[in-house]
Amino acid sequence: MKKIFGILALGLVYAGFLWAVCPGCRANIPQENAIIKPKSEMKTLIVYFSYTAGNTKRIAEKVQKAIGGDLVSLEPVKPYSDDYEKVVKQGREEVEGGYKPELKSLGVDLQNYDRIIVGTPTWWYRMAPVVLSFLSSNDFRGKVVVPFMTNAGWPGSVITDMVSLAEGNGAKVEHAHAFKFSSDEKHFDRMVTPVEELEQWIDDLK
Ligand SMILES: Cc1cc2nc3c(=O)[nH]c(=O)nc-3n(C[C@H](O)[C@H](O)[C@H](O)COP(=O)(O)O)c2cc1C
Repeated sequence: MKKIFGILALGLVYAGFLWAVCPGCRANIPQENAIIKPKSEMKTLIVYFSYTAGNTKRIAEKVQKAIGGDLVSLEPVKPYSDDYEKVVKQGREEVEGGYKPELKSLGVDLQNYDRIIVGTPTWWYRMAPVVLSFLSSNDFRGKVVVPFMTNAGWPGSVITDMVSLAEGNGAKVEHAHAFKFSSDEKHFDRMVTPVEELEQWIDDLK
């Protein structure tokens, strides 16, 4: 009996040791136990999809200018039409059907990054299908994901959906943020969110 307790105790000590010193040994443990570097040492990738007025793209570019890192646009293999009304209708069908379009290669390896900043416009109260494909199909264990979105006044569940998808795929999520733009079709590119709020958010990413 004593011997069995001895073996069990040794086993527990060994498991504790692995837990403390060997991140790889707990690779399938979700994000809360991952080792995250300080911001200054993080390699950052900014990915975005943008269609209507380049709003999400402009924010992504501003972030890159301020904090550095690599910037890539998410592109579906089958591009969307230039006909806005057609895409509004198509977008509704895609979003409501949970469609995940096939994406063109990003041209970068996510494994080389510690932090991924992901931007989407709101499409029918959800993230754009292209961004749904990206967040659904990648492993974010050991990484920080920063979701941001643009909208025209009806943000729906975009932020909570992005957060739960990224966390479900292992990410530590930080600084999720929504930016409101005009719903007037003549001024879709006009940001309603105060510019100071955007600047503060970018500062928080430094
Ligand atoms: C297909 C489609 C659906 C949209 N649905 C919404 C919506 O549900 N709520 C909202 O606030 N804006 C909606 N918009 C407006 C965009 O989210 C908004 O203009 C956004 O800032 C555009 O970003 P972009 O210029 O990067 O594409 C929709 C736009 C499109 C094309």
